[in-house]
Amino acid sequence: MADTLRILGFAGSLRKGSFNKALLRASAELLPANIELDIFDLEGIPPYNADLEQQLPATVRDFKARVRSADALLIATPEYNYSMPGVLKNAIDWGSRPYGDNCFDDKPVAIMGASGGMLGTARAQYHLRQSCVFLNMHPLNRPEVMVPFAEGKVGKDGTLTDDQTRAKIKELIAALAAWTIRLKKR
Ligand code: FNR
Repeated sequence: MADTLRILGFAGSLRKGSFNKALLRASAELLPANIELDIFDLEGIPPYNADLEQQLPATVRDFKARVRSADALLIATPEYNYSMPGVLKNAIDWGSRPYGDNCFDDKPVAIMGASGGMLGTARAQYHLRQSCVFLNMHPLNRPEVMVPFAEGKVGKDGTLTDDQTRAKIKELIAALAAWTIRLKKR
């Protein structure tokens, strides 16, 4: 294993002012030494279509290659209708296909999420964890980073201003790094 751990982060939102993208940007500012965070934007990944599986769209190929080359993943999910957004599920579906070519296999992953509601994406995160089981990923159990009432915690410039949330994210990344190293030593 290289000395530097490489984490790939992506958010299940396409909007510029996304609170979940803000969590990822904050994560990049809170990295311990020897951890790199590369952020992938899911914009441009087309809706899943089985007819394209034998010749994957370029954005999907790029996404899968970036996932594969990362030591661990960091997913920031919004909550839509008590679940994860279609944009995120769609990227996960592409990453798992064609059958036998699941780029998520054996990957450590940390999950976080921000929403305007009072449960801070709890329900979306548990649905996402359910998909992680089938994909044979290794989701980190703790800490859970569920950020409620996000509009009061992200400034107009898209900066995460809430110190408590920043501290939680720092804790999450440190735990993901330790989890990744532990899994690699198996
Ligand atoms: C929402 N939102 C929402 N919030 C929540 O806490 N629970 C929910 O079930 C839903 N459902 C939902 C459905 C749809 C279609 C939309 C568009 C929105 C609100 C959502 O949390 C809010 O828009 C977040 O700001 C979305 O995340 P980003 O884009 O800021 O990262």
